[in-house]
Amino acid sequence: MISFDGISKSRIRTHYEVATLFYRLLWGVHIHHGLWHANESSRLAQRQLVEHLLAESGIPRGASVVDVGCGMGGSSIHLARHHECHVTGITLSGMQRNWAGTSATMKGLRSRTRFLRQDAETVEFAPASFDYLWSIECTEHLFDKPAFFRRAADWLRPGGGVALCIWLAGDEPHSDEDIDQVKKVCDAFLCPSLGTSADYATWLRDAGLEVGSICDLTPKITRTWEICDSRIKRTGMAQLVRTFRGAFGGDFWKFADNFNLILNAYRSGAMKYASIVARKPMSDEAAAGGISSIRPRVEGV
Ligand SMILES: C[S@@+](CC[C@H](N)C(=O)[O-])C[C@H]1O[C@@H](n2cnc3c(N)ncnc32)[C@H](O)[C@@H]1O
Repeated sequence: MISFDGISKSRIRTHYEVATLFYRLLWGVHIHHGLWHANESSRLAQRQLVEHLLAESGIPRGASVVDVGCGMGGSSIHLARHHECHVTGITLSGMQRNWAGTSATMKGLRSRTRFLRQDAETVEFAPASFDYLWSIECTEHLFDKPAFFRRAADWLRPGGGVALCIWLAGDEPHSDEDIDQVKKVCDAFLCPSLGTSADYATWLRDAGLEVGSICDLTPKITRTWEICDSRIKRTGMAQLVRTFRGAFGGDFWKFADNFNLILNAYRSGAMKYASIVARKPMSDEAAAGGISSIRPRVEGV
């Protein structure tokens, strides 16, 4: 894991309160990378990432899901609308909670969704409240990732699981240059740390979960930043953000001006992007770590 000091929860919250409209205008309702197989539109690529994670995780139709870091509700609404899931979305941002709730209501999905302004690191749910935990590009922002997975595993019913898409630090060993690149990304994109895929596998196992697959998606998602960089320049948004720097706040400025930083980190191998799925074993004995029936599948797609 590569850590960066100087990020606070309130900075992350403020960032999403301020930047959500910008994300919507620049990219769409999903605040996550696209997944390209060919030359699809960015909108389709975003949907393909959701569908990839759905297929990898095997979430059954009608499952009850907690969407951690739900943004504007892109995934939650997709799961409720196309997969008949009952979804609880949590986000640090009140503005995102309202946006997601309004969108779901407008799509007739109010009975299958609820959105809460909650911190994933402190929110309390009763044991076995959900079948699945779904989280796309949120755990990067968490301060104590192992503790989060230990608590979240308790929210799941045996036989359920975890479905994650994550910005990662590249595999160890890390060169000084890799560490420098990752720390700059953490600073600009408000991540207290980025774990490696091996770190995540350890944290999930320590929480009593069985790791199912780890798919390195890096080559298929990097186009996201080429498109964002070109859009922000072409539309004049870069200039707008610079001009109104004071009003938008320093963190917002850093993010919007550093798309190349993350692109270069992916290209150099300092960072990776993966989906990881894990399962909560059926029996208490297995949950305690006595049985490991799944051998992790590690692959690129
Ligand atoms: C990059 S966005 C991803 C949003 C959404 N998953 C999507 O794919 O569209 C990160 C999300 O994580 C949320 N987040 C960050 N830290 C959080 C925390 N401690 N608790 C709850 N949500 C958090 C932010 O509010 C934001 O909604």
